[in-house]
Amino acid sequence: MINITLLGATGSIGQSTLSVVDLHPDTFNIFALSAHTNWQSMLQLCQTYQPTFAVMSDADAAEALSNKIQGDTVVLSGAKALDEIAAHQQTDYVMAAIVGAAGMASSLAAAQAGKRIMLANKESLVLAGDIFMQAVKDNQAELIPVDSEHSAIFQCLQGGSSGLSKIQLTASGGPFLHTPLAALESMTPEQACAHPNWSMGRKISVDSATMMNKGLEVIEAHYLFGLPSHCIDVVVHPQSIVHSSVYFEDGSTLSQLGNPDMRTVISYAMSYPDRIISGVPALDLTQNSPLEFYTPDFAKFSCLRLAFEALEQGGSAMGTINAANEIAVSSFLGGQIKFVDIASVIEKTLEQAQHTQPETLNAVISNDQNARAIATEVVKAYA
Ligand SMILES: NC(=O)c1ccc[n+]([C@@H]2O[C@H](COP(=O)([O-])OP(=O)(O)OC[C@H]3O[C@@H](n4cnc5c(N)ncnc54)[C@H](OP(=O)(O)O)[C@@H]3O)[C@@H](O)[C@H]2O)c1
Repeated sequence: MINITLLGATGSIGQSTLSVVDLHPDTFNIFALSAHTNWQSMLQLCQTYQPTFAVMSDADAAEALSNKIQGDTVVLSGAKALDEIAAHQQTDYVMAAIVGAAGMASSLAAAQAGKRIMLANKESLVLAGDIFMQAVKDNQAELIPVDSEHSAIFQCLQGGSSGLSKIQLTASGGPFLHTPLAALESMTPEQACAHPNWSMGRKISVDSATMMNKGLEVIEAHYLFGLPSHCIDVVVHPQSIVHSSVYFEDGSTLSQLGNPDMRTVISYAMSYPDRIISGVPALDLTQNSPLEFYTPDFAKFSCLRLAFEALEQGGSAMGTINAANEIAVSSFLGGQIKFVDIASVIEKTLEQAQHTQPETLNAVISNDQNARAIATEVVKAYA
């Protein structure tokens, strides 16, 4: 039996992970679950899966859960408890599916404990890519991407990367792919979260609409596959059937295709190097034609441009844009700024933040906090 610690159990990736686990009750056991404030959903999950530990990172939510829970599950609270269940001796695999920078420390704890990390939390790499990859190497952890694009590239490179010339991440273009630039001004959170192909949490849905999600994925790919920015390309593919491609010097291109459903990627991370049933139906290419591909519009989707620029700057710039983006997206979802202000808040924060080379986790956290403070001030000017 493989013991899974599922961080971010109440989220979109968390739910998809549990639905794959449900298909393989003799192979996978839910050892620990985490959520932030949603103790009501956690209560139901504990009743169903009877984990050894349930962590609510929010103290009030932990207390509410403790008051209601029945059975032997131990309820823990706080960010440190996330690190503990990630690194626990009885944990075999960690699904790192907390949203945002809040997921970084527990992903790192899993790496330092030498676990198989099924990494959905791309922010761990965006903020602390060098530190994280070093921890994976030093502790012989296994790092399996849980992002459809990176999983696709990981799958395409199973035969080796000899002669690799570039990788190409596909981007759906989000709900505003064909919306004129001038009309973006009036787009609401509901419109931004209405992704045409993928069902996801609200933050990543807005990131898809701005294409910052693709920008963060470019940075994620840089660390996962050890490639410079000029070997990482983005192509817009509205159907989200080709998940990504790798190009070789001999003219060959390998792509991975499938229905847009994260259960394929999650099941692959759980079963690698084997494959197991995920619940996702087989792809029918005849029902998905034509497959279209476009060059991204960097003027309209300036968040994508900013992410490439941050990767080229290196150091703290990547953490700075991530922090500024988290503040800007939450301000947009809260009705304080317009959709088009998201990119401006990030650009202004990047201009004002001090550029450093953070070499420790504390330095990464300090840069994250400084950038959030700057972005919060910038937002006030728009609100
Ligand atoms: N959804 C996708 O299809 C997809 C695809 C590729 C990669 N990803 C990545 O996977 C991660 C999760 O995405 P998602 O769409 O599943 O997000 P989501 O639906 O918003 O779920 C987020 C999860 O994280 C928990 N959480 C929120 N804030 C937290 C905090 N401060 N401390 C600890 N836990 C916290 C939430 O708990 P509560 O419910 O209690 O708030 C929830 O369990 C993100 O990094 C995203 O970029 C997602």
